[in-house]
Amino acid sequence: MKSEKRRLCLVAATSLMVLAGSTVALAAEKRCTTMTGEKVECPVKSDEELKKAVESFGAEADAMAVGKAGSTYGIEPFDYLTGVGKRSSKDVKKQGDSGYGGSLGGDTGKTELWDRVENAAQGEAIYNQWVNNWSPSFKSTLVDGADPNAGKQWYYFYCVACHGWTLQGDGPNAAMLDPKPRTLTAGSYMQKKSNLQLFTVIKGGGEAVGLSPSMPSWGNILLDQDIWNVVAWIRANQDVGPPKSVDDYLNPKSTFKPIPGDVNALNYLQSEEFQEEQEMVEASLPGRGAGLEGGGYVEGGLRKRPEEVSKKLSAGY
Ligand code: HEC
Repeated sequence: MKSEKRRLCLVAATSLMVLAGSTVALAAEKRCTTMTGEKVECPVKSDEELKKAVESFGAEADAMAVGKAGSTYGIEPFDYLTGVGKRSSKDVKKQGDSGYGGSLGGDTGKTELWDRVENAAQGEAIYNQWVNNWSPSFKSTLVDGADPNAGKQWYYFYCVACHGWTLQGDGPNAAMLDPKPRTLTAGSYMQKKSNLQLFTVIKGGGEAVGLSPSMPSWGNILLDQDIWNVVAWIRANQDVGPPKSVDDYLNPKSTFKPIPGDVNALNYLQSEEFQEEQEMVEASLPGRGAGLEGGGYVEGGLRKRPEEVSKKLSAGY
């Protein structure tokens, strides 16, 4: 459990370091590019919205630190983002109750996650259990060969601190960033971005596409298939607003319509345009080692080939 906590703090710290080194003042002018090359305003949250998000994040972390709020695994600041530690609304016994297990007088102090899984995992398995039991899960994909549920795991680990738990662009680091992280749910913008564009900015970072280096490159951390899975996860969340109920939150309804002729995880190796773009991105990645070649499937861990992903998703989870 301790090492998990350290791991998460490390992610937060890494993100903060990225910020400190690269906070460039860029106005919110039209500098975002659609797949047709049109320049549009980048969809981001307002300063007030981000200030509020940071305040509630801080308040909940403080409450947990002094034992006023329960947490199954004690992963403090991230509990705010995940809702882990919160009970579902029907369990909130009286008005004004924060909804945390720990605040229910006489209660066991166990939290919503305990209610759902009955047994908390141990060791390395904690992280996956934590993510899987308090997050949306999809039975189909909007990007062929890519698994939104696998992408979700990477997103919650690497992207959440800036882009926010529900992809609204309101993670706890967002208020400190200029430009601000993208609201990845904004359909009017995201529907006009190709899979190739999303893949490239995730793999090569903002700089690879003329955006800010505050958006880090992930190509040395995530393999191509992982990035495809993250793209599928982002597509699965298009136009999903801040949830009004637990059910809303667990079952987001995306408005994304796959773009005819766009690359996906099943066909990208045959796309010349994709290959050309990725050659440039890979050349720009610092310290690219032999173990992480990208441009194809690499065995390891729980990773699945795009064909397997398709089979799994068509058979249903
Ligand atoms: C350190 C904060 C930070 C982290 C961590 C981060 N991003 Fe970003 N991201 C940004 C910022 C800031 C921008 C906007 C850059 C700009 O406008 O110039 C951005 C932009 C984007 C865009 C939109 C680019 C466009 O063309 O509009 C995508 C997609 C994206 N990020 C995905 C991700 C994914 C996926 C992850 C995790 C693997 C991630 N980001 C992690 C800060 C971050």
